Amino acid sequence: MDKSTFEDRQSIAGPMHSELRHDSAHKHVAGTADYIDDIPEPAGILHGALGLTDRAHAEIMDMDLSAVAALPGVVSVLTAKDMPHSNDISPTHLHDEPVLADGRVQFHGQPAFAVIAETRDIARRAARLAKITYRDLPHMIDVADAMAGGGELVTPPLTLQRGDAEGELERAPRRLKGRMRIGGQEHFYLEGHIALAVPGEDDEMAVWVSTQHPSEVQHMVAQVLGVPSNAVTVNVRRMGGGFGGKETQGNQFAALAAVAARKLRRAVKFRPDRDDDMVATGKRHDFLVDYDVGFDEDGQILAVHATYAARCGFSADLSGPVTDRALFHADNAYYYPHVKLTSQPLKTNTVSNTAFRGFGGPQGMVGGERIIEEVAFALGKDPLEIRKQNFYGDKDSDRNVTPYHQKIEDNIIRQIVEELETSAEYQARRAAIIDFNRSSRVIRKGIALTPVKFGISFTLTHLNQAGALVHVYNDGSVHLNHGGTEMGQGLYTKVAQVLADSFQIDIDRVKITATTTGKVPNTSATAASSGSDLNGMAAFDAARQIKERLVAFAAERWQTTPDNISFVPNHVKIGEELVPFAELIGQAYVARVQLSAAGFYKTPKIHWDRAAGRGTPFYYFAYGAAVSEVSIDTLTGEYLVDRVDVLHDVGRSLNPAIDLGQVEGGFVQGMGWLTTEELWWDEKGRLRTHAPSTYKIPLASDRPKIFDVRLAEWSENAEKTVGRSKAVGEPPLMLPISVLEALSMAVASVADYRECPRLDTPATPERVLMAVERLRGL
Ligand code: MTE
Ligand code: MOS
Repeated sequence: MDKSTFEDRQSIAGPMHSELRHDSAHKHVAGTADYIDDIPEPAGILHGALGLTDRAHAEIMDMDLSAVAALPGVVSVLTAKDMPHSNDISPTHLHDEPVLADGRVQFHGQPAFAVIAETRDIARRAARLAKITYRDLPHMIDVADAMAGGGELVTPPLTLQRGDAEGELERAPRRLKGRMRIGGQEHFYLEGHIALAVPGEDDEMAVWVSTQHPSEVQHMVAQVLGVPSNAVTVNVRRMGGGFGGKETQGNQFAALAAVAARKLRRAVKFRPDRDDDMVATGKRHDFLVDYDVGFDEDGQILAVHATYAARCGFSADLSGPVTDRALFHADNAYYYPHVKLTSQPLKTNTVSNTAFRGFGGPQGMVGGERIIEEVAFALGKDPLEIRKQNFYGDKDSDRNVTPYHQKIEDNIIRQIVEELETSAEYQARRAAIIDFNRSSRVIRKGIALTPVKFGISFTLTHLNQAGALVHVYNDGSVHLNHGGTEMGQGLYTKVAQVLADSFQIDIDRVKITATTTGKVPNTSATAASSGSDLNGMAAFDAARQIKERLVAFAAERWQTTPDNISFVPNHVKIGEELVPFAELIGQAYVARVQLSAAGFYKTPKIHWDRAAGRGTPFYYFAYGAAVSEVSIDTLTGEYLVDRVDVLHDVGRSLNPAIDLGQVEGGFVQGMGWLTTEELWWDEKGRLRTHAPSTYKIPLASDRPKIFDVRLAEWSENAEKTVGRSKAVGEPPLMLPISVLEALSMAVASVADYRECPRLDTPATPERVLMAVERLRGL
């Protein structure tokens, strides 16, 4: 029997841990990767456009759509009344999110109708001809409005508590309070939302949609149409980026396309233009964090009390788990002996905010790092010193329990930070920068080293499951399907590597196929960075089953025992004989061995009791650290990121090339979030930053001038994950907190580091300049 366990797999230099290129890399570059808009359109296809409202909160008194319907080329106009069964696409049990606004508008830009026309252009032009009469209602746009307006919540808040935070704050030798505003973020996936629905016979509907969550789209389409889930098949080969923005937000386009397709018995495609996409779909939550920290003269943190208030928008969407995850990361890598953390998921009259890489964790962590920075400034110390002093202890320490009562068993933050501190020459560079700032009048520099500890697993325990379907055809080629979706992160490649490694065949013998609800059912969203952990293991399980059957067959045919049989590169070793893999498969087929299997995996060990605020929500943690150095122009607020050094932990990397790409991309995306990407709503609740002209994502020229990214090659997951790897998708997004803090140091230099600048995010040049001016005035 082939004893391929996780342990001995590691000694084999198979396809599993190698730097194979992303299966679609060359197609992305050559333009031959098919996205949904590239699928040849079915005959008679129609195109949809959203009809957007222009009030933040109002009653719809009258909706005159006659001019819309009268435009030549318009085939149909849909309103809430046209939803065959239900007008609900809420991903929670709260049923608070309509497909189309029904009687009441809850945010500026909420779709109230949809136009179906012969061309997209006609549909879009017609959508502007509606005459809607409103009765305005009072609206709340941001967190401050929502708090002032009574603080209605979209979903129940969470409290994490240990010890006596209030009492210890009173008793602490030093105490300080502060408030920080943390901005939201637009996903800015290159491929926007898109859905194509093709009606079949009877109640059948096939949908192609750019989604991270095909099973949920299936469920939503079925619910809106009033058909069972088995009538709906959802497909997606790849997304041109999702970043969390396609976890729930594709539901609306898929539902509308399906309703129209059902009604008109023609294929219907929805592909909103960029402005509509930015206005009508949810974003990263912005937060207002109020913190209160007690510490001693050495910088030891004694107690933390913090409230994380978030702008959730008009409905719950994923705000519950997002604000929970903010609290789960408010401690980052630090032990708070006494702690109380509370979330406030506030309802506002804005688009419903949703998942975005890190899922609230980044906002939680930025708040936690601000606390460290405050303590450091209060004591006139290097924040890195405060960090090290407050790190969680190791396994046997009494300082390793999180605010949610999970024990940290795999803490490597000290090794990561110390290695990076040395390799990036942090101390010498910091000393040189302080020196430089003394004599430089206009340009000031800053440097910061910040750590990341990120919890891996869905906090809703039942989502931590996955399935895979593997067929071996009788020519020895392998067909792979699983529930995960590809959004550029390389998941398909990684799972194919796991499978190729299991069978010990070349990767090009594995055909990667599009995700479809017809092959693997009841899948979770590809999210929480757990795609490769879950689907990789499900594929491994499917391979195991097929291999067991092959071994049993070979043992019988070759008259040997299973332990004399092993899978070696492109062959199976049976006794002393090397049989080519394809040949064994051919023989097994003739002998009527089943060559197909459905694999399954569920994450062990985890549980979470939300009401009690206790449990082990995370299977393990991923760690990392970054040192960033910046220069600011104190006359204009402009800045450059001069150098970034990263050391990141992905356990034993499944694919170091792909993982490096994830770390670099995550860093730059997080840097954009914390520096230049600013969402701005006016007093009427209208999003004024709804195009690249007004919303500034990082450009190639914003890339750190020196960007040295390394994986911690010595690390391996202490848990039995696939190949002892760790998740990589989200954690690197938090590494650029170091950029924010480096900016802060550069600003602080103008007042000789006496005061913490308290930069809010995004720390745009405008904000940097204002902070400089304020400190200069002191
Ligand atoms: N990388 C690319 N290129 N495109 C994406 O859309 N999404 C991120 C991350 N990396 C994303 C990405 C997010 S939000 C998550 S949760 C993970 O990838 C999901 O994929 P994984 O679980 O396979 O890592
Ligand atoms: Mo990622 S925010 O979990 O899709």
